[in-house]
Amino acid sequence: MAGARRSRGRKPAAAPDSAPDSGPVAAPPVIQIRRLTKSYGHGDATVHALRGPSDPQTGEPEGVSLDIEQGDFVAVMGSSGSGKSTLMNILGCLDIPTAGRYLLDGIDVGHLDEGQLSLVRNRKIGFIFQSFNLVPRTTALAQVELPLAYAGVRAAERRNRALAALSLVGLSDRAGHKPNELSGGQQQRVAVARALVTAPAMLLADEPTGNLDSHSTEEVLAIIDGLNATGRTVVLITHEDEVARHAKRVLRLVDGQVISDVRQGPAAGPPPVLAAQLQQRAAGGELIGGRQ
Ligand SMILES: Nc1ncnc2c1ncn2[C@@H]1O[C@H](COP(=O)(O)OP(=O)(O)OP(=O)(O)O)[C@@H](O)[C@H]1O
Ligand SMILES: [Mg+2]
Repeated sequence: MAGARRSRGRKPAAAPDSAPDSGPVAAPPVIQIRRLTKSYGHGDATVHALRGPSDPQTGEPEGVSLDIEQGDFVAVMGSSGSGKSTLMNILGCLDIPTAGRYLLDGIDVGHLDEGQLSLVRNRKIGFIFQSFNLVPRTTALAQVELPLAYAGVRAAERRNRALAALSLVGLSDRAGHKPNELSGGQQQRVAVARALVTAPAMLLADEPTGNLDSHSTEEVLAIIDGLNATGRTVVLITHEDEVARHAKRVLRLVDGQVISDVRQGPAAGPPPVLAAQLQQRAAGGELIGGRQ
């Protein structure tokens, strides 16, 4: 990204959010992308996987610009090939853009070398994929310990933290099971435990419920809701409205361009489905309390 063009100064990248409803001490966005493009191939065969709007004069892609607030829960929707995974891979520092800037927690990721990038991935980001990506013939406990091993955490602490993460996803009694001894939903919950065990500030999930039945989908979403309610930023790709309704903000991509950006709930606080459940429970409690 060395040749990244700077934005034209219409909106400085590090400008504090001064929207009147964002409160006086709004933290800077955790993700700031500016005029980001990703293309594959050359000449007539070029695929602009991420392109943003076209420059009215030249017709060239202007790139995607986007801020994501700390603690937000963003669903990215769009048809197959619209650029969702391309965007997610760049946000997760798994891939680099063709042009444009990406600031993660204020750090320009384009200036980092491979070693620094892998540190960022390990420390700041938890990944969840549609296909679980578990290591075969390895117990749930060992899978969840793995990112801690990479981070140099000692064996005893590794074990304790992995067990705590498995407990959080309701799998304490399956710690010794290997992937082929677990249901799809349980495998994905192991993957969620693995993503959260390093306490990353951000969770990136590429169709995390794409291979799950509706019951397992609800279980995994309830865990993700809870992680978001405790302050983790979540960016989740999905094709399903039922999944997207858990998000606080929904982006829709068409041909590498964000064509709609809808807020479903405030970036701070619990996500909408959990908020509604909490409200219902509180109302139920009042009712019971009122009867006594
Ligand atoms: N390595 C690659 N080489 C060439 N083209 C690619 C490559 N990766 C992705 N593309 C193209 O970029 C576009 C966006 O792909 P991307 O994987 O981001 O889509 P997506 O929205 O995630 O789709 P899906 O819902 O099917 O997962 C597609 O047209 C795809 O064919
Ligand atoms: Mg994809």
